[in-house]
Amino acid sequence: MLNLIACIDKYNSLGINNDLIYHFKEDLKIFKEKTLNNIVVMGRKTFESLNSSPLPNRKNIIVSTTLQNPSDNSYEVTRDLNQILNLSKDKNVFIIGGKQLYEYFNPYYDEIHLTYVKDEFTKNYDKNSSIKLSINLHNFILSSSKDFEKFYINIYKKHP
Ligand SMILES: NC(=O)c1ccc[n+]([C@@H]2O[C@H](COP(=O)([O-])OP(=O)(O)OC[C@H]3O[C@@H](n4cnc5c(N)ncnc54)[C@H](OP(=O)(O)O)[C@@H]3O)[C@@H](O)[C@H]2O)c1
Repeated sequence: MLNLIACIDKYNSLGINNDLIYHFKEDLKIFKEKTLNNIVVMGRKTFESLNSSPLPNRKNIIVSTTLQNPSDNSYEVTRDLNQILNLSKDKNVFIIGGKQLYEYFNPYYDEIHLTYVKDEFTKNYDKNSSIKLSINLHNFILSSSKDFEKFYINIYKKHP
């Protein structure tokens, strides 16, 4: 199963200066619960934004044409995106960012987990400098929506 998991605000912003804009403890906890013991896939820039440290207790795959596989096998580097699609046939794979990866896999998601920051918690930053998510939800139906204090989480499933 292939999943997208991301947090955006009303401007669809994902990040700024190769960093996140929002750090909600509760959302990060849910992210951890969902991805733990599964496979997480991220682009090289997102990996670097995590200080090039793999997320613990998950298999980490970094998509890059410039990085090498580490000698300690703590993560895996690939440029073969078909390999990720093949893995998702019998494993739970989460695309965890950034924009380039989220958008590349758009036609293939089984589920999309989107955290939407509520308007009143939207930060004031230079909108022209942020990286914005642009995905098509046309072939998806809203499966659940959960409300939290600062955000809500919608899960969309591929239209049967
Ligand atoms: N809000 C959220 O939920 C969330 C989640 C994650 C990230 N983010 C934010 O997103 C931003 C980073 O996103 P981004 O789009 O700039 O970068 P990204 O998708 O994280 O990484 C881009 C890099 O991935 C590699 N890549 C992408 N497509 C590839 C392909 N088809 N084949 C081989 N390699 C490929 C390339 O690495 P090489 O140049 O090494 O080849 C490319 O430079 C940051 O601000 C981060 O904080 C937000």
